[in-house]
Amino acid sequence: MLVTEQAKLQALVADLAQKHGCTRSSLIPILQEVQEQYSEVSEFAMQVIADQLDIHPAEVNSVVSFYAFLDTVPKGRFVIRMCRTISCQMAGAHNVARQLENDLGIEFGETTADKRFTLEWANCLGMCDQGPAMLVNDKVYTNLTAEKVHGILEECRGTFGVHATAGKEH
Ligand code: FES
Repeated sequence: MLVTEQAKLQALVADLAQKHGCTRSSLIPILQEVQEQYSEVSEFAMQVIADQLDIHPAEVNSVVSFYAFLDTVPKGRFVIRMCRTISCQMAGAHNVARQLENDLGIEFGETTADKRFTLEWANCLGMCDQGPAMLVNDKVYTNLTAEKVHGILEECRGTFGVHATAGKEH
């Protein structure tokens, strides 16, 4: 990270500490806002936050590791979490997953080179009777098919003016 970027992050954390307070209970809101702005909470950010709140970096690290919504590596603008639990599997999650991989050109656990999409597995999303189900950021999609997935990705790409790349239909 460049010195200017480090200074920017330090200034952001200082602002957030002022906004939320310099106590342990401010840790999660500060982490959330850093994550929002940087799409990750880097080692350096954890150190800065620890210094600001006067707590040990290991404490910050353990909170980041505990909460799935906090990432230590940058994720895409759209994080897709596909349910891999049994009801969705029986309803055809496999085909939907293959369509996602083919359409995006990545495998689960990866992020597209343009940083628009991250593909992840999730456990039951509570929509078992409407599977296959997935989340795109905080929006739930149910009764998925390969064709529907293709349309959802097109919609996401359209939101950001990204032209569709060719993908294989199943
Ligand atoms: Fe997929 Fe419950 S099994 S939402």
